[in-house]
Amino acid sequence: GKGNHRHFMLKEIHEQPAVIGDTLHTYLSPATRSVTLPALPFDWAKVTRLTITACGTAYFAGMMAKYWFEKLARLPVEVEVASELRYREPPLPEGGVCIAISQSGETVDTLAALRYAKTQHQTILSVVNVPESAIARESHAVLPTIAGPEIGVASTKAFTTQLMVLLTMAVAAGRARRTLCSADEERLTRAMIEVPSQVNEVLNMDLAYKNIAEGILAKARDVLYLGRGLSFPIALEGALKLKEISYIHAEGYAGGEMKHGPIALIDEAVPVVVVAPADAIFDKIASNFEQVRARGGKLVLLSDEAGNDRLAHHAAAAAKLPTVDPMVAPILYSVSVQLLAYYTAVAKGTDVDQPRNLAKSVTVE
Ligand code: M6R
Repeated sequence: GKGNHRHFMLKEIHEQPAVIGDTLHTYLSPATRSVTLPALPFDWAKVTRLTITACGTAYFAGMMAKYWFEKLARLPVEVEVASELRYREPPLPEGGVCIAISQSGETVDTLAALRYAKTQHQTILSVVNVPESAIARESHAVLPTIAGPEIGVASTKAFTTQLMVLLTMAVAAGRARRTLCSADEERLTRAMIEVPSQVNEVLNMDLAYKNIAEGILAKARDVLYLGRGLSFPIALEGALKLKEISYIHAEGYAGGEMKHGPIALIDEAVPVVVVAPADAIFDKIASNFEQVRARGGKLVLLSDEAGNDRLAHHAAAAAKLPTVDPMVAPILYSVSVQLLAYYTAVAKGTDVDQPRNLAKSVTVE
């Protein structure tokens, strides 16, 4: 049941500290502070290329993983939505690994993309939340998310646990490929161990998100989400979450793309949610923030203390998140965009757990 929560989605959002912790404990030994994945049927050091495929929110987890694998393991990565990959039938290189990401493990396009990758002799690794699912059964190896059943159509805890599994994988790959030194690995694992309690801190700011949702987002017809670098996939995920449950038109953009089109949309009526931890690319997203402000856009800032100090006074509203290692920040910012979408949908009175036209698992094309 929903316990004392009004919707499954809210319950599942609040389960995240626990299930991220469970997922972490499966892949990371707190005693040795090191990632310990189950034995895999390939050697990371010999992988020529990773091809990641998924749909919807799981696809955004794949985009996130691309940044992590490239940075930590210096591994070439392609990410593609499964419905495109399966019909484009691209050549996949010898020695390649294909990662299929799926909460349900039953998504028909993802399964078909996996089968195509098999014809290209890729080793198939899947990240699923249902270990007995079709995608899991057809994979060479499975790294399950330990999220427990997800009932709400909008994916929340499945997404953040996917992120956790993918990050531990990128760390393991970085170690095997000798691109990640032990000091960095230790710093990262320490940062990962802190995530469940930091997600709790985000959840404790609940009211701030509710106020932004009711005061700004629920009144809008269109909302833009901007992010750069590691925050770009979170901007996309934030926009998807908002549109699917509140029916407000929302788009996620890479901040650098603003000038190439979307800035034409900006006026007082279009709120712009800026996902911007004070990381290495902060100055660049701060300049996108200024561009929007100069055109009268209504800015919602999601940032940490340093970012708030820099920009909050120019925002219509701001939420403050814990200051964390940039590599784990996307997990915390995911929770922020989930809360914004949830409270906006509640304010609009839509059916949060079962939005119109959507199915929990898409088993037909
Ligand atoms: O079960 P899957 O992870 O394969 O599902 C993929 C998408 O259908 C799913 O993430 C969808 O986009 C969600 N409704 C997003 O909240």
